[in-house]
Amino acid sequence: MKKHVKSNVHWVGKVDWELKTFHGEELSTHKGSTYNSYLIQEEKNVLIDTVWTPYAKEFIDNLSSEIDLDDIDFIIANHGEVDHSGSLPALMERIPDTPIYCSANAVKSLKGQYHQDWNFKVVKTGDSIDIGNGKQLVFVEMTMLHWPDSMAVYLTGDNILFSNDAFGQHLATEALFNDKVDRCELYQEAMKYYANILNPYNPRLKKKLDEVSSLNLDIDMIATSHGVIWRDDPMQIVERYAQWAEDYQEDQITIVYDTMWNGTKTLAERIAEGISSADADVTVKMFNIAKSDVNDIVTEVFRSKTVVVGSPTMSNSTLHSVAGLIHLMKSMRFKGKKAAAFGCYGWSGESVKMINEAMADAGFEVVGEGLRNQWNPDVEAQKAAMEYGRKISQL
Ligand code: FEO
Repeated sequence: MKKHVKSNVHWVGKVDWELKTFHGEELSTHKGSTYNSYLIQEEKNVLIDTVWTPYAKEFIDNLSSEIDLDDIDFIIANHGEVDHSGSLPALMERIPDTPIYCSANAVKSLKGQYHQDWNFKVVKTGDSIDIGNGKQLVFVEMTMLHWPDSMAVYLTGDNILFSNDAFGQHLATEALFNDKVDRCELYQEAMKYYANILNPYNPRLKKKLDEVSSLNLDIDMIATSHGVIWRDDPMQIVERYAQWAEDYQEDQITIVYDTMWNGTKTLAERIAEGISSADADVTVKMFNIAKSDVNDIVTEVFRSKTVVVGSPTMSNSTLHSVAGLIHLMKSMRFKGKKAAAFGCYGWSGESVKMINEAMADAGFEVVGEGLRNQWNPDVEAQKAAMEYGRKISQL
């Protein structure tokens, strides 16, 4: 069912309430998602993006109930990733000669995935197409936000920026606009999306935000490809992105650990108490990595000024859950954050040193040698862990 966006623009996408993971199993999507496709019907009829492959038939059935597919003058593929291009093969079987406007890199990704020589029209930043009734579509390359092929398109007259993944959220909702959903939930999902997908590209994002600002576009709406359309104060999410791109952190310390027989867990709890006893204002959060969602942890790391990582030593190493989280944090390229380590051991006790080395390699500023404890923490060891927490609070 189509939904009215503005003037002659309608949403023709798919709400995916069931989606629980994205990028295979890499990214959790507790709140589902939407694949937003838009139909513009001026003198020219334009389709912007499609939906993920499993919903291709439903998408095309719905679309063809709204418009004769042969009346679509052209398609814009803002991004080649399958959640937006997945219905193209089925659609192009019906309208094989329809031009597809996209970036040069999108031609590579679409050909690479679908092995079809469709009627591609390559566009770059500043190029535009007249769609009649005094309106134009102006293209803006969004390279590495978050793929090399990413692009946005701006509709003059209605002042809508179709931003694709940028400014999106994995949030299933029947509501179309940001002012119609819970604000806390919206920002939680927007931040999770940023922390887990866009943070590695902060330097490019800053330049792109400056570039888009310099275009002096009047923006009434930002129509993303996931989640809601930013209609109420649409620049709020642009301003928030500008803050997030500046190596964002809040007054938060996050403790992450895994444990075998609860010795390292005990240290974690005493460290947390030590931090909050020395600084009543700082937010302290703690996660057993093996029992938590790693993407939610990454979101908390994104908000943190300091991350305290704990693991017991097993087979001369850290537990694999800890190694996996550090790998993920490294790939998110966090900057300007401090790190400290702790862990129990019975025999050799390498884990703390290994955590420090891995966290330094992941771009964190490692502070101190860390806290090691042999066997289960006794009263004195627990006091030492509290003192360690107090020191961490002063970093
Ligand atoms: Fe929503 Fe990069 O795909």
